[in-house]
Amino acid sequence: MKVKELLFDYINPDIDYQIKKGDSLTVLGKIEDGKFDLILTSPPYNIGKSYETKTSIEKYLETQEEIIAELVRTLSDRGSICWQVGNYVDKGEIFPLDIYYYQIFKKYGLKLRNRIIWHFGHGLHASNRFSGRYETLLWFSKTDDYIFNLDSVRVPSKYPGKLHFKGPKKGLPSGNPLGKNPSDIWEIIQQDWDNGMWNIPNVKSNHPEKTDHPCQFPVELVERCVLALTEENSWVLDPFSGVGSTVLGAIKNNRNAMGIEKDEEYCKIAKQRIKDFNEGKLKFRPINKPIHKPAANDKIAKIPKEWLELEHINGNGKSNGLNGKH
Ligand SMILES: C[S@@+](CC[C@H](N)C(=O)[O-])C[C@H]1O[C@@H](n2cnc3c(N)ncnc32)[C@H](O)[C@@H]1O
Repeated sequence: MKVKELLFDYINPDIDYQIKKGDSLTVLGKIEDGKFDLILTSPPYNIGKSYETKTSIEKYLETQEEIIAELVRTLSDRGSICWQVGNYVDKGEIFPLDIYYYQIFKKYGLKLRNRIIWHFGHGLHASNRFSGRYETLLWFSKTDDYIFNLDSVRVPSKYPGKLHFKGPKKGLPSGNPLGKNPSDIWEIIQQDWDNGMWNIPNVKSNHPEKTDHPCQFPVELVERCVLALTEENSWVLDPFSGVGSTVLGAIKNNRNAMGIEKDEEYCKIAKQRIKDFNEGKLKFRPINKPIHKPAANDKIAKIPKEWLELEHINGNGKSNGLNGKH
């Protein structure tokens, strides 16, 4: 007789998670001081996305500051805030939001540990400026005694065979057998761990985690922050939790998590994703999976015949490289 396999319970029963529907400021007001070891979020950027009403940058930052004051209060003494932002754009002028946010966090006594560049290979093509291909993640700690588990996020060394060439360790391996520090650039390159950078694709429509949310975090990005900046059983908060990517990245790694989101539909999707995860049905882009790079003979990598014809017609002596001359 064939024995039916038991359903594996993915979420550790000792792990607590909550998706709270409501306004962040109001919900935070009911939370005790020092609860969270990590607050990781991507706040609204005030650029008129479906979930926000665009206002002046001054008014926007004033509202955000009220929330930040509450976040600092609910952050533990060993805790960190990771604030992931891009640009606010007004009449074609860009305002890098991390510049504005930095001053607010400093005012509340937080210390910047890294300004991480999250580089992604795809996005809108700009016509009046260079296309934007990165956003930043500001990592602040509340005190100097902060949680930082570098060993849990090390990446393989590029040259593990490198040796000390002088001194008492001459001839011995110079690297760390656990791998090297992944650096402050999380870049989209083909072999992420091989290249020693954190290579996290933006969540676009062909990504296995894509939902209806217009700007969702990759769970991979969350996991790296969670593993490095919290301990098992820590509490993690996302005060603008959208479809619950932070909550997922936390519970997947045995951390307790809370998400606060004002939009009912996003809360529903978040709960469904957690349920799917618990039933082993949620699709994740596995951490460390190399980004797909088309082979030279894939249709998408080939120069369209229309462009080759253009080269021929223009024939102005300047090669654009399409015909192999440089
Ligand atoms: C940039 S998105 C975050 C997406 C999220 N990282 C994810 O992976 O799904 C910002 C979210 O904040 C929510 N939001 C904006 N203002 C809020 C507020 N005052 N309280 C709670 N949620 C808010 C929006 O509805 C939106 O889903």
